Amino acid sequence: MPLTTPKEMFARGYAEGFAVGGFNVNNMEIIQGIMEAGNLEKSPLILQVSAGARRYAGQGYIIKLMEAALAENDLPVCLHLDHGQNFEICKEVIDGGFTSVMIDGSHLPYEENIALTRKVVDYAHDRGVWVEAELGQLAGVEDDVDVEHSVYTNPDQAADFVGRSGCDSLAIAIGTSHGAYKFAGEAKLDFDRLEKIKALLPGYPIVLHGASSVPQEFVEMANQYGAQIAGAKGVPEDLLRKAAASAVCKINIDTDIRLAMTATIRKYLVENPSHFDPRQYLQVARNAVRDMVAHKIRNVLGSSNKI
Ligand code: G3H
Ligand code: 13P
Ligand code: ZN
Repeated sequence: MPLTTPKEMFARGYAEGFAVGGFNVNNMEIIQGIMEAGNLEKSPLILQVSAGARRYAGQGYIIKLMEAALAENDLPVCLHLDHGQNFEICKEVIDGGFTSVMIDGSHLPYEENIALTRKVVDYAHDRGVWVEAELGQLAGVEDDVDVEHSVYTNPDQAADFVGRSGCDSLAIAIGTSHGAYKFAGEAKLDFDRLEKIKALLPGYPIVLHGASSVPQEFVEMANQYGAQIAGAKGVPEDLLRKAAASAVCKINIDTDIRLAMTATIRKYLVENPSHFDPRQYLQVARNAVRDMVAHKIRNVLGSSNKI
């Protein structure tokens, strides 16, 4: 099956109360682990590539890996640019075959965010590509930007932004944050704000960034085998389920993939000190990504058997 846009996935997700995972990919093992989970669960998938991933692996490698993955799997899969910082990077990935891009103008003044998003929308829509934009700011670290305090999305502005920019989906800030250290105190999301946005934009797909759950089993495993990530904390799964049952159609997950790989590799290497073939520990890591993503699809996103 060729790469697809998120259009049909989101329409069904909105109507049936599930979300599609936006899984960050950086190498072959991550792509394979996610694709295996999608196959096991018969779930649509969004594989997304950050600017950092593009620098690390190279766009050419990612696209060829995706081609190989698609040739072996019969799933609806979307290839998406995560946190596109400017028009040029969006254009490059659209020209390279991505079916969806995020233009992240969330750090710009409002009118500049609209103008930049509009420019990307005009280029993308002429080529059948989906555009995600962002309004509001998440706390935490993302590609070259470190935001200390979040700025929650204003619902009226969200409706105005979507109308004027023409974006197809909108990432909003309601309390999630990027990275492994979310929520200084109690974990909570501003569901009233989400419902207001939903009422002002009926039927419109909303995206949640910074939505890893930071499974404590991986935090503990990593720490037991030498890591120093005490206090790592994520978004509780029940809050994500509630968001997916509402207008949230895409839930972004990167940190959980990193944790699953690193915790299992740490454990493997400590338990097998004589092993030095990377295939041995990468295979274990790939299986951990598969199992974590399958759990997420089944128990959090609700996208099993939705292809
Ligand atoms: O939102 C950021 C994603 O987790 C990507 O992270 O820029 O380090 O690849 P990265
Ligand atoms: P996490 O850091 O919570 O995995 O969020 C990832 C993300 O939003 C990618 O855009
Ligand atoms: Zn993000």
